[in-house]
Amino acid sequence: RSVIHFVFFFIIVFNEAQVNGTLNNKRFPDDFKFGVATASYQVEGAWNEDGKGENVWDQVTHRVPSPIVNNDTGDVACDSYHKYKEDVAMLKDLGVDFYRFSISWSRILPTGFDNKINEAGLQYYKNLVKELRANGIEPLVTLYHWDLPQPLQDIGGWPNEIIIDKYVDYARVLFRELGDEVKYWLTFNEPKQTCNAGYGLAQKAPFITSPGMADYLCTHNVLRAHAKTWRLYDEQFRKDQKGTIGITLDIQWYEPSSNSTADIEAAETKMQFALGWYANPIVYGDYPSIMQSNIARRSAQEGFKESRLPQFTEEEKKYMKGTYDFLGVNLYTASLVRATDEPNPSMGLDEDSEVLAWQPDDWETAFSSWLKVVPWGMRKLVTWMKNTYDNPKIMITENGYSDSGTLEDDGRISYYERYLSSLRDAMEFDEVDVIGYAAWSLMDNFEWLAGYSEKFGLYHVDFNSPNRERTAKKSALWYKNLLETRCLVE
Ligand code: NOJ
Repeated sequence: RSVIHFVFFFIIVFNEAQVNGTLNNKRFPDDFKFGVATASYQVEGAWNEDGKGENVWDQVTHRVPSPIVNNDTGDVACDSYHKYKEDVAMLKDLGVDFYRFSISWSRILPTGFDNKINEAGLQYYKNLVKELRANGIEPLVTLYHWDLPQPLQDIGGWPNEIIIDKYVDYARVLFRELGDEVKYWLTFNEPKQTCNAGYGLAQKAPFITSPGMADYLCTHNVLRAHAKTWRLYDEQFRKDQKGTIGITLDIQWYEPSSNSTADIEAAETKMQFALGWYANPIVYGDYPSIMQSNIARRSAQEGFKESRLPQFTEEEKKYMKGTYDFLGVNLYTASLVRATDEPNPSMGLDEDSEVLAWQPDDWETAFSSWLKVVPWGMRKLVTWMKNTYDNPKIMITENGYSDSGTLEDDGRISYYERYLSSLRDAMEFDEVDVIGYAAWSLMDNFEWLAGYSEKFGLYHVDFNSPNRERTAKKSALWYKNLLETRCLVE
C-alpha cells in the first residue's frame, strides 16, 4: 500500500511541477566547468614589491590629477599577493572547478624589454598554482589583462609592432615555467577594451585619444601577437603539456530595435564591428567584410591613400586562421540597434559602423550605468556565435553584476540565476557547445575607472581594514549551492 501511495505522490508532484514550471530541468552537464574570475591589477596589490616593474595601470592611477574615482589605486587592492592562500580557501569553500586569474607581465619581466626573469614574481604564481592544485582547483590563466609594462608603453604600446615579439617572449616564459601545471590559457582579456578604450577613446590606460586609427593598429598587433602565441603553444608545448588555449573577447548582445530588414542588418553590422573585429580574423583569417568595405570607403572620402583598417598579407591570413581551441567571451549586457542615414564624419569604431546603438532608460540597471540587466541576450549571443563561427567551443569567462557592496545581495543572485538559465537554454535547445562559466568576480576589487565604488564580488572585501578582510555575501552561498547541485531551481 505504501508503495502505491508513493507512486501516486510522485505522479502528483511531477504533474504539479510540470504545470507550474517548477520541474527542475535546468541541470548542467557533469563535465560543465564552473569557476570564478579575477585579474592581477584588480586584486594583487604589492605594486612595487619583490622586483615588480611599473605597468600602465600603476602609471595612470598615480597621475595627478587622477582619472580614477576617489583617486583610488590598485597599490594594495585586495592584497592577494600576500593573501593568496585565503583566496584559495574561499575558492575551495565555493567548490569551484576552476579559478581564472591573470598574470602581471611586469612581475615576471619587469621592463618587458629584456628576458631577465624576476624570480620572486614568478614564484608567486608558482605558489598560487600549487595551492590551487593541492585543493583540486584547475587554474585558468589569462596572460594579459590590461597591465602592459610601462617601458613598452613608452615606445608607443600596442600600436607599435615591436610589442608583438615582446609579448610572445613573455608567453614562452609562462608556458615553460607553468605549463606543466596550467592546462587552460587565454592570450588576451577583452582586447577591444585595451585597443578601442585604451588607444581610441581614452577610457582605459594608457588613455590615448586616436579613434579609428591607433585603436585599429593596436588590434592588428594584438591579433598578430595572439596568433603567434597560439602557434608557439601548438608547435612547441602542446605535445608535452596537453593544454588548451583561447582568447577572451568582450561583447554585449546587439538586438535589432525593430523587425525591419534595415535594423536587423544594422544589428548584424554592429556585432561584426564589436566581436567580429577579433573573432573573424581568428576563426576565418581576416576582418569582417563589412568592416573592410565601410572603413575603406570612409577612408577614401576622408582623403587617406589607404584604408585606416590595416590589412593582413595572404600569408598572415593563413597564419591567423584557426588559432583558437575555444572562444572565451565576457558578457554582461545588451543594447538595441537601428540603421541610420545620418552621416557621421568623425573617425572611430562606432562611427565607422554607421549604425546606432543605445540602451533604453527603462531597462533594469545594476550599479554601473552601462550594466543593463538583459538575461535573454546570453542565449542570443552564444547562439549567434555558434552560427557565425562554425560551432566553436565557447567558455563564458566573465558574467556578473555590480552593486554598492551589500552582503544581502539579492540583485546579484537574481542576475546570475536569470543569465545562467538563459545560457542553459542555449545549450539545451540550440545545442551550443558551452564548456564552462566563470562568475565575475570572486571578490570585490579595483573596478578600473570606478575604483572601489562599484562592487562585483561574491565575497565582500573590507578596503578600510589593513588586512582586507573577506566576508561571504549571500550570493557566495547561492553559487556554492549551484556548484554542489549543478541545478538551477526555477
Ligand atoms: C570585464 C573586465 O575583464 C574586468 O576586468 C572588469 O572588472 C569587469 N568587466 C567588470 O566591469
